[in-house]
Amino acid sequence: MSTPALRVGRRNIVGTAGLALFSFTMLISLACSSPPEANTPVPTERPIVTEPVARSGQDIFASICSACHGLQGQGQPDWHIPKEDGTLPAPPLNGDGHTWHHGDGFLYRVVREGGKFQEDPDLLPNFKSAMPAFGAQLSHEEIVAVISYIKEWWGGKTGRGLNIVEAQAIKSSNDPFPDG
Ligand code: HEC
Repeated sequence: MSTPALRVGRRNIVGTAGLALFSFTMLISLACSSPPEANTPVPTERPIVTEPVARSGQDIFASICSACHGLQGQGQPDWHIPKEDGTLPAPPLNGDGHTWHHGDGFLYRVVREGGKFQEDPDLLPNFKSAMPAFGAQLSHEEIVAVISYIKEWWGGKTGRGLNIVEAQAIKSSNDPFPDG
């Protein structure tokens, strides 16, 4: 006898069995992922930063970098005109200049090693950098934090209509932050 009512009933049985199996699986996975005594809900979101940062990027920028780059990262006037000693004034880091053209690895090296690593008489004969090295003062996490803080200022469009954040992310995919 296969009346419609029975078919529905059968489907319900299958559905109930499926639900029971699903709940059982969930119970097992919950039991495995948390110690039995922990009765707190399982967190669903992970924090983005997993390692402790001694000082925040904002603190580091305000106390060290702003002396030359300005509190809002606006840079010094005429930043692209070399001074008498051949060095450039501090450029804007806030998205007005060209800093977002660089990948994370380059930005990291500039902060850790200073601008000197770019001095190459063959490539840039007259270039001298006045950007100091901060590798002795700042930890790996702090360098990443201060660069991440600078990157929070970027959001506008480049000349080619690309979003600055997207353009820099593309660049950084080939030149990421180094491992700590
Ligand atoms: C004594 C002044 C001074 C201080 C302090 C300073 N900078 Fe600089 N910075 C410069 C100058 C000058 C340049 C441009 C140098 C060059 O041409 O290589 C520069 C360049 C940079 C660049 C590369 C910009 C680009 O587009 O190529 C970054 C990134 C940067 N600084 C970040 C920082 C951060 C982060 C700090 C703080 C931890 C900092 N700077 C502190 C003077 C300074």
